[in-house]
Amino acid sequence: MNSIDKQKVDVVLGTFFGDEGKGKVIDYLTSKNGYTVNVRANGGNNAGHTIEVNGKKHVFHLIPSGILNEDTTVIIGNGVVIDPEVLKREIDTLKENGISIDNRLFISDSASIILPYHILKDRAQEVDRANEKIGTTGKGIGPAYADRANRYPLKVSDLVNNYKVFAINAIQVAINDLNYKKCFEENNLNEVEVSNLLCSFSKEYSEFLKPYVIDTRSKLYQEIKKGNTILCEGAQATMLDVDHGTYPYVTSSNATIGGILTGTGLSHKNINDVYGILKAYASRVGEGPFVTEEKGEIGEVIRKLGHEYGATTNRPRRCGWLDLVALKYACQINGINKLAINHLDTIGKLDNFKLCIAYNYLDQKITPQNEQFNIRNYGNYEPIYECFEGDFSLEKAKDWNSLPKSVKEYINCIEDLTETPITLIGTGPKRENIIEIEKPKVKILKPYETSY
Ligand code: IMP
Repeated sequence: MNSIDKQKVDVVLGTFFGDEGKGKVIDYLTSKNGYTVNVRANGGNNAGHTIEVNGKKHVFHLIPSGILNEDTTVIIGNGVVIDPEVLKREIDTLKENGISIDNRLFISDSASIILPYHILKDRAQEVDRANEKIGTTGKGIGPAYADRANRYPLKVSDLVNNYKVFAINAIQVAINDLNYKKCFEENNLNEVEVSNLLCSFSKEYSEFLKPYVIDTRSKLYQEIKKGNTILCEGAQATMLDVDHGTYPYVTSSNATIGGILTGTGLSHKNINDVYGILKAYASRVGEGPFVTEEKGEIGEVIRKLGHEYGATTNRPRRCGWLDLVALKYACQINGINKLAINHLDTIGKLDNFKLCIAYNYLDQKITPQNEQFNIRNYGNYEPIYECFEGDFSLEKAKDWNSLPKSVKEYINCIEDLTETPITLIGTGPKRENIIEIEKPKVKILKPYETSY
């Protein structure tokens, strides 16, 4: 491995609870840097990436967000769980929109399949959890990953190599699992109906997936050897990571940097830039702790201004303020060296806005710097806020110098407390609504130093 190899792979990750605008940043970076490959590493169609290009809105759930750049090859990596029905719909929509995927879309033979009964089980589990719901997207993600951990033969290669054997195994899994049996009963499905459903599912989607399936690990390795560049796309985000997030209110995959490596087969030695994506406020969809949540009127105002409704489930998102203690944690866990902040235009529509710069916890102060943050205690932290002046427009902003004073103060505060530079600012939903910033060396005010 020489030092040039290290330059080849960049990564995009969410820093909070997802919906930070990763799709838009991936599309922007792909069109700007011309990555040869964009590979998705984890999650399934629980994700919803919205991208607006040339007046058209595209929503992707499984297809990597770089697909709109015709010179980029996109890969669905081995860490992804694939609902083939959803993928088929997405591919059909791309074709209807005149976007070619021939020889541009590849699917890992080691990715896992979401079966119709995974979806039934996901929804039934949520009903059983009663007051302790996770608020899943109901797309079968958890049960599909659980069956992967159970080592059932339900991988893409199993399906495309022999759909009959795949169907037999899928039926066997269903029959042996009491929970699945219960789901079928609840949905008035008998064993014959389940078997017929799984047989036709397996036949249809084996044929459909086959042309796209390859060993993507080997493809990625060859691209690196050829000197080509790769952008890795994480789904969901740090606080939803099954290990490092607000467990059990998390998704079932690793949405952090480790998931990028295990979900693609790339080596850590290839990784160069790790972009952490955040919003100028915060949002969460589903249950679980959210320290900086605004439950009242202001939360509703942010939701409306930011159009915070889920791209996958259309659920209203819970809204609140950006939290620098949690952001610092995300930077540490993931080795983030560049931040991209979206929706700065949105908070400019407020008269003033808040930024969480520390927490109170028992008799302790927890700051981004003092390394006392413990994700297991997250739900018990009380936010300490700094206030910033809003009421600004970014319409004419093109670079650091043309940003309003309060925005500069805000950015300086985020950078100082997380010790990570902000390099991209999102000023609207379209691809062109991104400003790259390079700051002068001399800093301006740090208001939080005087008040805190
Ligand atoms: P699951 O991934 O459907 O099992 O849902 C687990 C939790 O993660 C729920 O709180 C979901 O709302 C949340 N979640 C899953 N995917 C996303 C996403 O792409 N954006 C935001 N939240 C998500």
